[in-house]
Amino acid sequence: MPKPFHLAWFMNFAVDDWNTTYSAGGKPWDGSFYVDMALSMERAGFDFIMIEDTLMMSEAYGESSEAYLKYALMGPKGDPAPLAALIGQKTSKIGVVATMSTLGYPPFMLARLCATLDHICKGRFGWNIVTSGEDLAAQNFGMDHLPPREVRYEMADEYVQLCLKLWSSWEPGAVVRDQATNTYADYTKVKPINHEGKYFKVRGPLNTTPMPQGRPAFVQAGGSPRGRQFAAETADSIIVAATGIPAMKEFRDDIRRRAEGAGRNPDDVKVFFIVQPILAETMDEAKDRHDRYFNSDTYIEMTLASISSVTDIDFSKFDLDAELPRLTTNGEQGSLDAFAQWGKGKTLRQLVKDRATRGLDGVIGTPDSVAERLGDVMEQVGGDGFLISSPFQKVNRQYINQICEGLVPALQRRGLTRTTYTKSTLRETMREF
Ligand SMILES: Cc1cc2nc3c(=O)[nH]c(=O)nc-3n(C[C@H](O)[C@H](O)[C@H](O)COP(=O)(O)O)c2cc1C
Repeated sequence: MPKPFHLAWFMNFAVDDWNTTYSAGGKPWDGSFYVDMALSMERAGFDFIMIEDTLMMSEAYGESSEAYLKYALMGPKGDPAPLAALIGQKTSKIGVVATMSTLGYPPFMLARLCATLDHICKGRFGWNIVTSGEDLAAQNFGMDHLPPREVRYEMADEYVQLCLKLWSSWEPGAVVRDQATNTYADYTKVKPINHEGKYFKVRGPLNTTPMPQGRPAFVQAGGSPRGRQFAAETADSIIVAATGIPAMKEFRDDIRRRAEGAGRNPDDVKVFFIVQPILAETMDEAKDRHDRYFNSDTYIEMTLASISSVTDIDFSKFDLDAELPRLTTNGEQGSLDAFAQWGKGKTLRQLVKDRATRGLDGVIGTPDSVAERLGDVMEQVGGDGFLISSPFQKVNRQYINQICEGLVPALQRRGLTRTTYTKSTLRETMREF
């Protein structure tokens, strides 16, 4: 029997695939479209649905918001937390992960929100820990510029430790609910934390009861060496944009080494790689669909605008048919490195093309051919799963159906993914195999 792997879905509370044949209309703001989507994924046995988020309207591409607003790219977005609550209420097995930035939330607010959401989701809530990567986000929170990466991660280290203290500020047994003595909670077991660190000062205790999981499942996406270290020390799952099998394997091996170095069991840190399968009933149809979409000028512009947004680098300035110069960023360095594939001599146009498949051949095809290929890739990488997404996270019901009713059954027939849930909390589900 092959070793099974995990599935999760990468999306955001943004406009659906609004201007295509199978559009849901471009107004998903009451959340019901995404609740339907989560129910499909729950039937298919996904570990979790992950709601990406950013805290600005980008102007990184061409120094303008035009491309972002015209194509509804990276925005507009609803807040992930209420959507997570809605999904948590309407589902019973799948985990739901909301992105919340350490730059944007005071730690007490975030710790309380996570505890509340984990209650509403009955132990299936996860926090995607991000530090934000854009100057425009910083400018929405009283700063002129984003702090440098090292400082952001140092702040995030302290932030997470502080949240852990708040989540432990209610000792086991603090909730009594004893009608005979008219005691709801034992005040001797709920204590201030008096945290005074380099960046934060919080008294505590949390004014929310302990959540089912004790703390939310932690998801992280650090790609730079500093980001990987933070992720390996902290996260239950790491989501990764890597291009090609060698880069995927290198990433996972490195994370496992770092986790072990930090005294953790590397099997407790699951690595999920982004993949965007293109499916159809025949190979020719799938290739035709891919060629029509991914060779269009609109796709090229949207890709450049999207990578500009996460790196704060204006990619409208580079020649599409030349190699990129070496670039660094205070934004998402890991995503930039994965996109640019330094040293391979590719033109920007080729890089845009590779991004569609994340450097993996064989992810365009029939459900059976793609399932077979994903099985091969996982075997070569060693684990742990795929984070399925669609271009620019724009989804329609046809695509959801192709994945959940086509690809996943093909994976299940091969024994590659779960057919049922056996655990009740998200962290247990992630650690099931
Ligand atoms: C797959 C993936 C998903 C991410 N999702 C978000 C997100 O929703 N919000 C956000 O602000 N950053 C997001 N990031 C950025 C990371 O959290 C991290 O800040 C970024 O990769 C910069 O860290 P690095 O320089 O260590 O790579 C994501 C990154 C990746 C690779």
